[in-house]
Amino acid sequence: MKRLDRTLSVAPMMEWTDRHCRFFHRLLTRRTLLYTEMVTTGAVLRGDRARLLAYDPAEHPLAIQLGGSDPRALAECARIAADLGYDEVNLNVGCPSDRVQEGRFGACLMAEPALVGEGVAAMKAAVRVPVTVKCRIGIDDQDPEETLDAFTRTVVAAGADALIVHARKAWLDGLSPRENRDIPPLDYDRVYRLKQRNPTLEIAINGGVASLESAAAQLRHVDGVMMGRAAYQDPWRLLAVDPKVFGQPAPCDTPRQAALALVPYIERELARGTRLHAIARHAVGLFHAVPGARLFRRHLATHGVKPGAGAQVFLDALALVRDDADMRTAAA
Ligand SMILES: Cc1cc2nc3c(=O)[nH]c(=O)nc-3n(C[C@H](O)[C@H](O)[C@H](O)COP(=O)(O)O)c2cc1C
Repeated sequence: MKRLDRTLSVAPMMEWTDRHCRFFHRLLTRRTLLYTEMVTTGAVLRGDRARLLAYDPAEHPLAIQLGGSDPRALAECARIAADLGYDEVNLNVGCPSDRVQEGRFGACLMAEPALVGEGVAAMKAAVRVPVTVKCRIGIDDQDPEETLDAFTRTVVAAGADALIVHARKAWLDGLSPRENRDIPPLDYDRVYRLKQRNPTLEIAINGGVASLESAAAQLRHVDGVMMGRAAYQDPWRLLAVDPKVFGQPAPCDTPRQAALALVPYIERELARGTRLHAIARHAVGLFHAVPGARLFRRHLATHGVKPGAGAQVFLDALALVRDDADMRTAAA
């Protein structure tokens, strides 16, 4: 089995990490493992599969995240995804939304480790790519000290290749999915103890990691770090990942270069009927601490959303940002 480097990854995020977002992130980092949004087994098996699972080859290494709990459906979807070339199949055991609970998947599966184990075993039997699980430290009144260890034993026995742990509980009653990303307190130490008790299991930590410096600190305790909101909202951070985390040059030298590298993709997609906003919305946070960053954001928010907006709108937004080279001259 090909080994995937999970030292740093961008979290699966519904409505955010779609294929346009992932293509854009790839212009900022070659090495970060990227995840799709969660795709339910029902959608893969009965929905518009070609549209849901489409991706650009440039997005590799790329993991698909599945939502579901029926082992047979999971195995079938894992096989479909692996045949399409996805590099990893990940199971969502962390999403707390009501819709997901009704479908008996997501975070509520923390209470059903045996079923998760059956799903993992079925997927492992169906594919040769790694099968991983993204979970919480617990739900509701579970005692994570015991239940997380038991959950881990079960999924590891079923063959899971790695565990990504969002270091907070999900409270399934009374909190919205959004609140469930902030209100239950983070408990990184619990994840560190899980790693100490399972030294040979690959464990990545997730939740509240806001900078590459914090990610580096986490890597002293665990094998990998998954960044969600900080990577999406401040994509400029990703430009430093390859040099700082992997000791390799970044794909582009500056955020401006990355923006320019996105233009041919924008043109290609517009020609296929994609709206500019669907792509540009992922790039609004690209510039940081540069004069014009706000104007860039505002221009895209105002003009990028108009029907028929073309690549020139994106270039006009870019022209409002002071060139990095100008900044260096000004500083000299
Ligand atoms: C808009 C949004 C959508 C999300 N969708 C998913 C999802 O589809 N699957 C999943 O496992 N987690 C999802 N999450 C949770 C993130 O993957 C991550 O666990 C969470 O944001 C905590 O990490 P962070 O503090 O680095 O953002 C989502 C988070 C956000 C903000």
